[in-house]
Amino acid sequence: MSAAAFFREFISNRHSVGAVAPSSPALAERMVESAGVWKARHILELGPGTGAFTEAIRDAMADDAEYLGIEINTTFAGQLRERFQDMRFEVAGAQEFDFSTYLQSRPAFDVIVSGLPWTAFPSSLQEGILRNVLPHLSPGGSFATFAYLGFHQLPGGRRFRQLLHRHLPGVETSRIVWANLPPAFVYVGRKGAAEP
Ligand SMILES: C[S@@+](CC[C@H](N)C(=O)[O-])C[C@H]1O[C@@H](n2cnc3c(N)ncnc32)[C@H](O)[C@@H]1O
Repeated sequence: MSAAAFFREFISNRHSVGAVAPSSPALAERMVESAGVWKARHILELGPGTGAFTEAIRDAMADDAEYLGIEINTTFAGQLRERFQDMRFEVAGAQEFDFSTYLQSRPAFDVIVSGLPWTAFPSSLQEGILRNVLPHLSPGGSFATFAYLGFHQLPGGRRFRQLLHRHLPGVETSRIVWANLPPAFVYVGRKGAAEP
C-alpha cells in the first residue's frame, strides 16, 4: 500500500490508525531485533497495518516458527493476506480476540510485536489490550512496542508508559530511531516467571 493510501486510511480512521505514515524499515529492524524475533517459536503482531513490521518479522523468523497478526482494519487485513500468503491474519480488536481458544493446540507466544497507536487510546483500551494479551506471553517472552518522540510526553503516552512498567517491570527503552516519521523509540519488556 502506498503512503498516500495509508494516509487516506488515517483520515477515515484517525484514532485507530493513529499514524500519518507507515513505520520505516529502520524502525521495523529495531523492533524485530529488540524483541528477539529470530529465536521465537510463536510470534504475535498487534496492528500490522500495511505490513511494515510484518515484512521484517517474516525475514527474521525461523522457518518453523508460527505467526499470528491481529488487525482491526478490514482494508489493511485484506491487503496483508494478499501480500503475506503464508502468514495468518485475523480481523479483530486486540482487546477482544479469543487467544485462549486460538492457543488450545499451540504454545504460548514467546514474542509480541505491537504497532498499536497506544497514545491515541483511552486508558481503558490500553489496559484492556494488555490484560487480554500479556497472559498469553510465555515466561521469559518479550513484548516490543514503539512510541513517537515527543508524543510519549502527552497524557496518553505517559499513561501507557506507566501501565507498561506496571505490567512488565524493568521495561527498557531503545535509542531513538531518527529514520522514521516522526522519530521513534522502542520499549521492550520481558515477562518474569512469576507474572500472570
Ligand atoms: C500506527 S498503525 C501501525 C501500522 C504498522 N504496524 C506500522 O508500524 O506501520 C496502527 C495499526 O493498528 C491497528 N489497530 C488499531 N487499533 C487496533 C486494535 N484495537 N486491535 C488491533 N489492531 C488495531 C490500526 O488499524 C493500524 O493498522
